[in-house]
Amino acid sequence: MAARSLACGFGRIPGILQGRGGPRGWRLRGVSALLRAAHGPRGSAPAGAAQYASYPTLSEQAARQPAAFWGPLARDTLVWDTPYHTVLDCDLNSGKLGWFLGGQLNVSVNCLDQHVQKSPESIALIWERDEPGTEVRITYRELLETTCRLANTLKRHGVHRGDRVAIYMSVSPLAVAAMLACARIGAVHTVIFAGFSAQSLAGRINDAKCKVVITFNQVLRGGRVVELKKIVDEAVKLCPTVQHVLVAHRTDNKVHMGHLDIPLEQEMAKEDPVCAPESMGSEDMLFLLYTSGSTGMPKGLVHTQAGYLLYSAVTHRLVFDYRPGDVFGCVADIGWITGHSYVVYGPLCNGATSVLFESTPVYPDAGRYWETVQRLKINQFYGAPTAFRLLLKYGDSWVRKYDRSSLRTLGSVGEPINREAWEWLHNVVGDRRCTLVDTWWQTETGGICIAPRPSEEGAEILPAMAMRPFFGIVLALMDEKGKVMEGGNVSGALCISQAWPGIARTIYGDHQRFMEAYFKAYPGYYFTGDGAYRTEEGYYQITGRMDDVINISGHRLGTAEVEDAMASHPAVPETAVIGYPHSIKGEVPFAFVVLKDDTGDSDVVIRELRSNVATKIAKYAVPDHILVVKRLPKTRSGKVMRRLLRKIVTGKAEDLGDTTTLEDPSIIMEILSAYQKHRDKGASGQ
Ligand code: WT7
Repeated sequence: MAARSLACGFGRIPGILQGRGGPRGWRLRGVSALLRAAHGPRGSAPAGAAQYASYPTLSEQAARQPAAFWGPLARDTLVWDTPYHTVLDCDLNSGKLGWFLGGQLNVSVNCLDQHVQKSPESIALIWERDEPGTEVRITYRELLETTCRLANTLKRHGVHRGDRVAIYMSVSPLAVAAMLACARIGAVHTVIFAGFSAQSLAGRINDAKCKVVITFNQVLRGGRVVELKKIVDEAVKLCPTVQHVLVAHRTDNKVHMGHLDIPLEQEMAKEDPVCAPESMGSEDMLFLLYTSGSTGMPKGLVHTQAGYLLYSAVTHRLVFDYRPGDVFGCVADIGWITGHSYVVYGPLCNGATSVLFESTPVYPDAGRYWETVQRLKINQFYGAPTAFRLLLKYGDSWVRKYDRSSLRTLGSVGEPINREAWEWLHNVVGDRRCTLVDTWWQTETGGICIAPRPSEEGAEILPAMAMRPFFGIVLALMDEKGKVMEGGNVSGALCISQAWPGIARTIYGDHQRFMEAYFKAYPGYYFTGDGAYRTEEGYYQITGRMDDVINISGHRLGTAEVEDAMASHPAVPETAVIGYPHSIKGEVPFAFVVLKDDTGDSDVVIRELRSNVATKIAKYAVPDHILVVKRLPKTRSGKVMRRLLRKIVTGKAEDLGDTTTLEDPSIIMEILSAYQKHRDKGASGQ
């Protein structure tokens, strides 16, 4: 694709975004106009609603003239210190990705101050604590004050603009304030999911060279205490760049405080509740978020200020039909991108009330989600298929027991949703009257890219399909030769052919890896790593990863990471890990391991391997199945053929495809019989 450098095009397309004069010469109706345009006039339609463009027109305009589409939206949706001069300067061939160049703004001002000015007492967050019925409401004014105190504390402890701060906390207002405090002073946060082990935490802190870590003494999850601070203690021993650990209190229990540790609430109490926001360039870093790839260690995806914020806010509003006054309930953890975009940045930029869900779907019982929906009167509920699959097994009475009449939109994210879970969500949870959106996106995309909404009013939604690309997302399916596939009823590699504001800009410290991972397979296109099917009508259905990434309960994991963690064992020269289907988790890791000849008791080794994976990565990464084999199937050039392993363990050994490159075909029978023995033993987890 040719390099593009376009000036803002507001007003170029009359009738779409209504760009005309006004304060500072750019009064535009932005998202609200889009919302009406996308759904058609409803109820009390605003005067002149008829002049707004239809959904297909908008969609086409966003694809054809991205600058004319996103420029006015950015001006209208975000609060700027300095207006940008160039909407986008992007080239997917060279990896140049720039949006709203020349513009300056502060993300925390957009998420907090602008709403405090208008309605300081409106509720920003409802913290649904682990203990049911003990929710805490936090107003925009309170969240701004807390954020400023925390920002001042960070500054006092030497955090400057551009410095990295690790946040290792459970879902809580203080964690949100920590993210926004970084944004306020121009520091870069990296939130690390509180389920990761000390070694994973250390790896990320070291890669990002974090100066400060913010954590809790302990946290609660499903009624159990997790010793968060102890994990941090262990991690920071390995992290020379960490100067301070700020420790907040989620429980009343005292924990050991060492020479790096600072009691956070005590320090915050001394600080001013006002902190001048740093004026940031649109393309300055906002945060890093680590995610797994098909090779090597997790990569720190970089998201920047304006484009990310705009994209998360606009998708939040349009995909879920969020309207002012609604209570938005995304139950994701803030340690994942879903928590960043749809618990924190998107909703808060829109002035929404966002629910922070600290607990689990089955604590204290399988009615937790729906009891929460009833008590908090949640209007949009956004969760993961793995939880829905689990809950449907508990039966419908847990759902029907509670009043769900507040719900308007249900959303699913993180992994393919099977038909049964989709139907259950639609028929039972949503009583067949809610809009159900299966949303496809990635850490790299910053926000939702494919979802059934927005669309024209009442457009059909097909079960278990993400269906329609969002505005400005131009999709392409590639065949095995790397050619774009035309028409319907085709499956291929899912690519995006033009930049959008939410796309990650690079991998922290390794732009070459970024280029190789996403732009090399299909030059000029962003390759998602997923496969997809396009129907005759032009709708998309995601078929799953095409690389060596697996998805366990919506948690992304590189099989190479698990292999590395196991290969560090002295008795294990070789391993291969694949994804194995699981009825609730979607996939689980299945490991094939080769042991050295003189290895004694293999059960002991297998136990050690499990514990290696738990300490090096996280508990969820521990393989459910570990099968000892004599050797692995390899090509003549020495590459492990994981594809064959997958076929063997999923009962498709008859249809192995092309095995001509296999070094020794007799290995297939060898592995098949080892697997059959393993299965006959009923040896899940043996
Ligand atoms: C991978 C991205 C996006 C937030 C959570 C996960 C899979 C995600 C769907 C969906 C089928 C999906 C893809 C994608 N995925 N949503 N609706 N249908 N698959 O973010 O950890 O970066 O993982 O999750 O395979 O590539 P992530």
